[in-house]
Amino acid sequence: MKLLVLFALACACFAGNAAGRRRTSPTSFNVLHFGARADGLTDDSNAFMEAWKAACASSGTVRLHIPRGTYFVGPVKFTGPCVNVHSLTVYMKGYLKASTDLSKYVKGDDWIEIGWVDRLTLTGFGTFDGQGSVSWPYNNCPTKKNCKVLPTSIKFVAANNTVVRGITSVNSKFFHIAAVGCNNFWASNIRITAPSDSPNTDGIHIERSSGVTIYSSVIGTGDDCISIGQGNSHVLLSGIKCGPGHGISVGSLGRYQNEGDVRGLVVRDCTLAGTTNGLRIKTWENSPGSSLATNMTFQNIVMKSVANPIIIDQTYCPYMSCSSKVPSRVKISDISFRSIRGTSTTPVAVTFRCSRGIPCQNINLHDVHLRYVGREPATAQCLNIKARYSGMQIPPPCK
Ligand SMILES: *[C@@H]1O[C@H](CO)[C@@H](O)[C@H](O)[C@H]1NC(C)=O
Ligand SMILES: *[C@@H]1O[C@H](CO)[C@@H](O)[C@H](O)[C@H]1NC(C)=O
Repeated sequence: MKLLVLFALACACFAGNAAGRRRTSPTSFNVLHFGARADGLTDDSNAFMEAWKAACASSGTVRLHIPRGTYFVGPVKFTGPCVNVHSLTVYMKGYLKASTDLSKYVKGDDWIEIGWVDRLTLTGFGTFDGQGSVSWPYNNCPTKKNCKVLPTSIKFVAANNTVVRGITSVNSKFFHIAAVGCNNFWASNIRITAPSDSPNTDGIHIERSSGVTIYSSVIGTGDDCISIGQGNSHVLLSGIKCGPGHGISVGSLGRYQNEGDVRGLVVRDCTLAGTTNGLRIKTWENSPGSSLATNMTFQNIVMKSVANPIIIDQTYCPYMSCSSKVPSRVKISDISFRSIRGTSTTPVAVTFRCSRGIPCQNINLHDVHLRYVGREPATAQCLNIKARYSGMQIPPPCK
């Protein structure tokens, strides 16, 4: 018996060495060992911060456990770099509750910020509850340009090679998840929910990031399911179920000076149900700087009762303060819509309202079949665009 065990160990060792892997077991940290109470009442922020500090200061393969239980935390910052850590996995099995006291979030604080880390994985089927309903009435961003922005639930900043898998986020105060300045960011099996009338509760917002993949996720909120902001490249969204909400959006672009281009977006195999928009690109009028939105493919998308299934809007200006009418300086080009089908709840199923300063260029539609749920046939509206059409076209192309 003993011999057998030894033999098995030797084999495992040999196999490990043969594969060239290091055989060191991961170093584990548990928030409960750092004083977290998990009673849903005591502020566990310090325990979380101390556990993170210890994990980040250790080395090799590191695990940070947040076991089952309800934790009242935040705001917290999980900040790197963790110089000797090869990879860090946060196993989040708990239910995290954010404080509803906005005075705790000093200027610009988000709820949970994870930044300046490499090879971090966040997983474990836990839930992040932003407890947003108390603060939504204080959000004046939909009506006021210089508004006070509320905390995002989980913000990744300048993180490389991040994996987020199998977590749930509910009722964020502002965005649910944001990735800002990240390289290689994979998110999958994410569930995000907030009421359809909750303001700015975007599901996942991406900005100044590259190599972003989001797949197999279910998102229903009061704002965009996924929003692709400025400065992104190589973004793939697939297998997303979106609704309710404002759909999958590129933008808003062109609000600020020195915005980066958006290049290389693929959105495929997604379903949008009961959303106000389906696939949208929106840019501000009166944009102070110029930028590009280019090389985007939207393919195999199903729309179920969507108000504006396909929309490019370069006259975005939701505030009264947009009095002058300088056309948008964001140049939109090389965009393909392929195999887009389903139903529109408004007669105008396809809207292209491009900039009269810089018309949209090389817009391609192939096999579009969008039916209006009412009696009339669906129509398309076009301004300042040259589009090319092939395959089936319902609504018929603009004249
Ligand atoms: C992330 O990658 C960028 C670009 O390669 C690099 O400059 C930066 O130091 C990396 N950050 C971390 C935390 O590893
Ligand atoms: C367009 O974007 C795709 C997907 O990100 C990328 O693979 C491709 O190289 C890009 N094409 C050009 C011409 O940049």
